[in-house]
This record gives sequence, C-alpha cells and structure tokens, in this order.
Amino acid sequence: MVKILSIVGARPQFIKAAPMSRALRARHQEVLVHTGQHYDDNMSEVFFRELDIPPPEHHLGIGSGSHGTMTGAMLPAIEAVILEEKPDLVLVYGDTNSTLAGALAAAKLQTPVAHVEAGLRSFNRSMPEEINRVVADHLSELLLCPSETAVSNLAAEGITRGVWMVGDVMADTLLHSMERARQESNVLERMQLSQKGFILATIHRPYNTDHPERLGQVAAGLGSAGMPVVFPVHPRTGRALQNQGLDLGQHPNILACPPLGYLDMVRLEQAARLVVTDSGGVQKEAYWAHTPCLTLRPDTEWVETIEAGWNRLVASDAQVIRQAIGAVSTPGTHPELYGDGHAAPRMVQVMEDWLQDRGPIQR
Ligand code: UD1
Ligand code: UDP
Repeated sequence: MVKILSIVGARPQFIKAAPMSRALRARHQEVLVHTGQHYDDNMSEVFFRELDIPPPEHHLGIGSGSHGTMTGAMLPAIEAVILEEKPDLVLVYGDTNSTLAGALAAAKLQTPVAHVEAGLRSFNRSMPEEINRVVADHLSELLLCPSETAVSNLAAEGITRGVWMVGDVMADTLLHSMERARQESNVLERMQLSQKGFILATIHRPYNTDHPERLGQVAAGLGSAGMPVVFPVHPRTGRALQNQGLDLGQHPNILACPPLGYLDMVRLEQAARLVVTDSGGVQKEAYWAHTPCLTLRPDTEWVETIEAGWNRLVASDAQVIRQAIGAVSTPGTHPELYGDGHAAPRMVQVMEDWLQDRGPIQR
C-alpha cells in the first residue's frame, strides 16, 4: 500500500478527483487536500455530495485573490501538509493555481509529482492555465496524458520519461453519470425545456469575461439565438457582468441561473441542441454526450473534437456567434476520443508500478 496526497481546489478538479479517489482508496491510502480556491456550495460542496467524494482530510481555506496572492498563500500551506503526511507521491490535476502550487510545493520537498491531464497545450501564454500546465508538467515525474496529442506536445518540450497515455478521467466521471443524470436530474422539467429545443452556454475564461466589449458581444450573440439559452453563471462571470453594467435580463431567451450541480449539468449537455462554451471540460462532455459545440476562444487544447467535426472555434462577436449557431450540424461519425472511461484505475496502476520500481523516497 502506498500513500498518495491528492490536491484539488477548483470545480473541474473535484469532478476529476471523484473516480481517482475511488480507484486509489480501493488499494491504497489517499489523503485529499482541498486548497479552498473554490468555496461556494455550488462550486465545491455540491460535487462532493453528488459524486461521493470523501471529505478532504485537509482544507486549506485559501479563497480568492490575485494569481500571486492565491498561489503564494497555497505554497506554505501545502508544504506543511506534505511535511506532516509524508506521502509517497503528490497527485495534481489539470491547470489551475492549485495545480501549480501543489506541484511546486511537492517538487521542492523532493516528493514525486504525478500530473493528471499532462501535456495539454493551447500555445497561448495569455491564458493563466497555459503557464500552470507548462510548469506543472516540467516539475512532474509521472505525466498522465489524456491524448496522443498531449504525449507529442510533451515530446516537443523534451519530456519523454514518465509519460503515459492513460485516457481522460473526466470520461470516467461522465460515462458513469449519464444514466444517473437521466434518472435523478429534473432540470428539464424545472426549467421547462424540451429535448433538443435549447442551447446550453457556459462562459468563464478571463479572455471573455475580463476583456472590455467581449462579454457584451457574447451576451448579444446568445440573446439573438432564436431559442432558449440556459446559462449557468460562473461567479467570475457574474462579477464581470455586474462590473460592466451588463444585464442578461434584456435578452428574454437567456435563462440565467447560478452554477448547477453536476447531474443537472450532464442532463443539460445530453438534452441540448448545442453547447456554447469556453470551458475545457464542457467541450469534452459535449462531445461525449453527442452534442455539437461552439467554443468561444481563439484556440483549444482539445483539438481532436474540432478535427472530428463536433466542435468549432468561434470569435466572441455577436454576429459571428449568431451565424455559427444557425450553421450548426451534427456529423455522421463519432470516433472514440480520450479513452474508454477507465482512466482512473489505469493511472493508479501506473503510479503503483512506478513507485514499486523506484523504491522508498530518501528524505
Ligand atoms: C479557475 C481556474 C480555471 C478553471 C476554473 C474552473 C486558475 C488560474 N483558474 O478559474 O483554470 O477553468 O477555475 O471553474 O486557477 N469565486 C466565487 N466563489 C467561488 C470561487 C470563485 O465567488 O467559490 C469568484 C471570486 O470572485 C474569484 C473569481 O470567482 O475572484 C475567480 O475565481 P478563481 O478561482 O480565481 O478563477 P476561476 O475564474 O474560477
Ligand atoms: N459544471 C457544472 N456546473 C456548471 C458548470 C460546469 O457541474 O454550472 C461542470 C462541467 O460539467 C464540467 C466542469 O464543471 O464537468 C467544467 O468545469 P469548468 O468549466 O468550471 O472548468 P474548466 O473545465 O474550463 O477548467
């Protein structure tokens, strides 16, 4: 049995951690650390409840702040937990500030780091996530990749040791939740939506929320979609709308609501005619749910969804969005992308084998 310290803090990380915690705890000891980067009930607790994620052994309560403030506050707090728990390995997920702080604190303490969702690149350093990913990958000894593209991206940066193509753990969560969402979520009834009769939209990237003009253009584009648009509003986006004096109420077809729980979200992804998003996770989930997607960004890490014809990059401009919504079609083919929904047990096996070959840490 080995001891793994998993670090999470933001919404998509809870969703990724759910199957990993299950697979890890079946054979090993897991210590779960929640940095507190996301803290509202509907951004954090709801996922622990719905996905049966064990309560974190350590909650660091870091909260919001600038990148430097947040990452800086996480470092000594994570360091103290690593020193106390003495794990064999630290596991970090994705590309948030919690990922960066976790990888950095562990690497400095000579504790090996495994990175889930390694090798993704947008090649756009104006995204805070791109910086977090590049640094986390270069600090990691085990790089757990969701796609062959990710493996090639790492090779292009000279990283070839410790690289494993394991598939995407978000598929594990989604594929295991599709039927549950159909049975347990009543969101379609609650919001009076018909099958394939609405669009689901999520927006939270600083590229769209924090740039003067763009958020208004996105709202106007969705407002002219000619059908209901369900829009669960991320807290960053809610704050930006308020700061910019934008009122979604002026677009009667936009059904704005607070962030939703996972099962409601999956139900909507399945039933929507179209997804419009700038989220990484939602692009993939739309694909797995066989729902076409428009991504309001200049680039994406999930290039395979574009190549397969199910996703399209669209400028954050009202007229372009309206035209793209009107032009959406459903491709006739749907190749399997990002694995088979069994990435978590595969990753546990990789970590186990690697730790066994490596022997105990010399502290
Ligand atoms: C973060 C991640 C992003 C990820 C997203 C998932 C970084 C740099 N960004 O972005 O990669 O896609 O999470 O959702 O790590 N807030 C609340 N309540 C909360 C959490 C946040 O009100 O529970 C508000 C605060 O005003 C905060 C703002 O949202 O300042 C942004 O939160 P933050 O965690 O800094 O970044 P996200 O945009 O959520
Ligand atoms: N999600 C959710 N409720 C919402 C919006 C998103 O449960 O209101 C889920 C979504 O299904 C996906 C994950 O959150 O599993 C994506 O997280 P987010 O878009 O915040 O971050 P990203 O993936 O872009 O890093």
